[in-house]
Amino acid sequence: MMRNAKIEPDLAAAAALLGSARSVMAFTGAGISAESGVPTFRGSGGIWDQYDERHLELGFFKAEPGLAWATIRAIFYAFARPFEPNDAHRVLAAWERSGLLDFTVTQNIDGLHRKAGSERLAEFHGATTDIVCLRCGGRSPASEAALAELPPRCPCGGVYKPDFVFFGEGIPERAYRDSVAAAERADLCLIVGSTGTVYPAASLPRRVKAHGGSIIEINPEASEFSADIADIVLPLGASEALRALDGLLRPAGAGNGS
Ligand code: APR
Repeated sequence: MMRNAKIEPDLAAAAALLGSARSVMAFTGAGISAESGVPTFRGSGGIWDQYDERHLELGFFKAEPGLAWATIRAIFYAFARPFEPNDAHRVLAAWERSGLLDFTVTQNIDGLHRKAGSERLAEFHGATTDIVCLRCGGRSPASEAALAELPPRCPCGGVYKPDFVFFGEGIPERAYRDSVAAAERADLCLIVGSTGTVYPAASLPRRVKAHGGSIIEINPEASEFSADIADIVLPLGASEALRALDGLLRPAGAGNGS
């Protein structure tokens, strides 16, 4: 399908901003993983149309860990067909390697930025990789075997919780600190695939804007950021937009190594 020609000037302007920025921070949400088959939370086909959002509240989890875990395993642990990064994750990882991208903050817990090779990364809401015991604090990998019986239990008898951030929980300290520092450094924030409705994550691009930075947003639908803080909105899917920007930024004939 041909891209709407009206978008080309905005793509060129976005590429120019990226090319001249001193410190670029990427801020990603569920939309960047949509093309990897990870469902988004909100919007059409969003998880919260199908599942009960309360199952990710800490209070509910403690009261009904078996019920909450059944939902969590169904949504986040696709053992039979693990999720793979898509071109959007790969372009950001390549930009990090080439020095164009300073830092990535993701709200996603799917681990796909790390899998694509991003290292200067904060997983703001944690990741699905480990489970942690609510009684003794012991950790264990969230393997298929560990999640065969729900709720999974620690050898101490306590219930394991996924080591990602539930509603009502604080942000992991290091991720928070690194993300705020990146937002303070950044003179450009590239937002990819987030509704901008969940705080404190959604305050990070606003921090960049507040100290005079520019905002580019990639999202096929309008978000809380679009009319409010975005200087350029690219209404495209994540991988199409990032491939196009990568093509504009690369000198003719050079590969991005992804
Ligand atoms: N490319 C880019 N964006 C897309 C794509 C795509 N292919 N498909 C959908 N989107 C956009 C949607 O238009 C929507 O704006 O991705 C966004 C997904 O929004 P949410 O589901 O609200 O995801 P996010 O903003 O990451 O949610 C924040 O909410 O439940 C919590 O902790 C959870 O981290 C999550 C937080």
